[in-house]
Amino acid sequence: MIRHQPVLAGRIAELLAAPGPGTWVDCTLGDGGHSEAFLRVLDGSCRVVGLDRDTEALAVARNRLGGDPRFSCIHTPFSALASFEETDGAKGFLFDFGVSSRQLDEDHRGFTIRPGVPLDLRMDREDPRDLRSILTATDPDELGNLLAELADVPRSRIVCRHLAKLAAERDLTSDDLEAALLEAFPRGMRDRPREMARLSMALRMVVNSELDEIRTALPAAFSRLAPGGRLAVLTYHSVEDRLAKGILRKLIGDDADAPRDIYGNRPAMQGSWVARREDPSKEEVASNPRARSAQLRVVEKRRGAALAGVLGLLLAIGLVGTVMVGCVWRQTRHVELEKGLGAARDRERKLSDSVAQVEARIRSERQPAVVGKRAAALGYARPERQFRLVEPDTAEVRP
Ligand SMILES: C[S@@+](CC[C@H](N)C(=O)[O-])C[C@H]1O[C@@H](n2cnc3c(N)ncnc32)[C@H](O)[C@@H]1O
Repeated sequence: MIRHQPVLAGRIAELLAAPGPGTWVDCTLGDGGHSEAFLRVLDGSCRVVGLDRDTEALAVARNRLGGDPRFSCIHTPFSALASFEETDGAKGFLFDFGVSSRQLDEDHRGFTIRPGVPLDLRMDREDPRDLRSILTATDPDELGNLLAELADVPRSRIVCRHLAKLAAERDLTSDDLEAALLEAFPRGMRDRPREMARLSMALRMVVNSELDEIRTALPAAFSRLAPGGRLAVLTYHSVEDRLAKGILRKLIGDDADAPRDIYGNRPAMQGSWVARREDPSKEEVASNPRARSAQLRVVEKRRGAALAGVLGLLLAIGLVGTVMVGCVWRQTRHVELEKGLGAARDRERKLSDSVAQVEARIRSERQPAVVGKRAAALGYARPERQFRLVEPDTAEVRP
């Protein structure tokens, strides 16, 4: 029987759907509600692959969607999604974190806080790491600090010490959560069911390594996304939401450390926000109270990121080439100029030599002896005198 009502299913299918063939990966298949919404809007050439670490969820989803040849599912934690070739180049990834209504409601799954129910808290019941083994193997104070961080569990170290003592003796039940809280608050709590729910959620997050799963899976999904493909994340509490939002910002290059140009823009963005944050409508929350705390965030991988990379490489090669050609040209020109300068210096030297020779010759020819000799050769009588034109005797001139 289908128990889980998918949150924002129509909206997510609308935001993630794209025309043409391709694969969409529902990383938290659950009862298959979101996968069904995808199959409704995608055409015949598309594939929807569901992942879940819970074999019961896989059986329910297979029963619901197995008749559709476009659907298939895999039993795996989503942190291992990169090991499946179906996820390579997918056009959409969806993460709907947390547990499903089925897991919470069915007592045999060990997630409930109803009285007298055995505590298990594993999504994958084949996982050898269960609550008891964690409580007995971990320092209670360390575990207490972790629970305080994950869900603000009050007096968490006292709570964990009590649980560890019980776990050393036997398997735990939901009643033990209450007993551990009463140990920390002997005079009672204001809102006991709320504190029990917080404690149970924090322990569940530890047992299933939920934050580590998110830390590994989101970057893996983004790197396998096709250019233009979209990744959607539905979170249900602040710790998970802060973590997912921070990772998405980093992946698309929208974080504080991302490089910026001189105008403060981020030129190297790897993607963009399609939905920074969307909440379910009042009507949806009224019909599905579990949707109350849900927040949807969707990012799109930059289109042509690969093409831009190739163009960037070509541009870089072009730039380096231009610089190298420029250097060679400059060197050649430098050599040419040096040659020209050498030739000009030669010419200048020769000219200054010949000027000196002419000056020397003039000087030698102005010697009185030389001038006398030449004057004598020309027939002048008094060669030792300077030869000048006779000044006209203006005194003898009469008008
Ligand atoms: C909120 S429910 C998803 C419900 C689903 N979207 C639907 O429409 O029915 C979360 C599901 O994800 C699974 N899950 C949670 N963490 C997981 C992980 N790290 N790896 C694989 N499955 C995970 C849970 O077992 C659960 O079935």
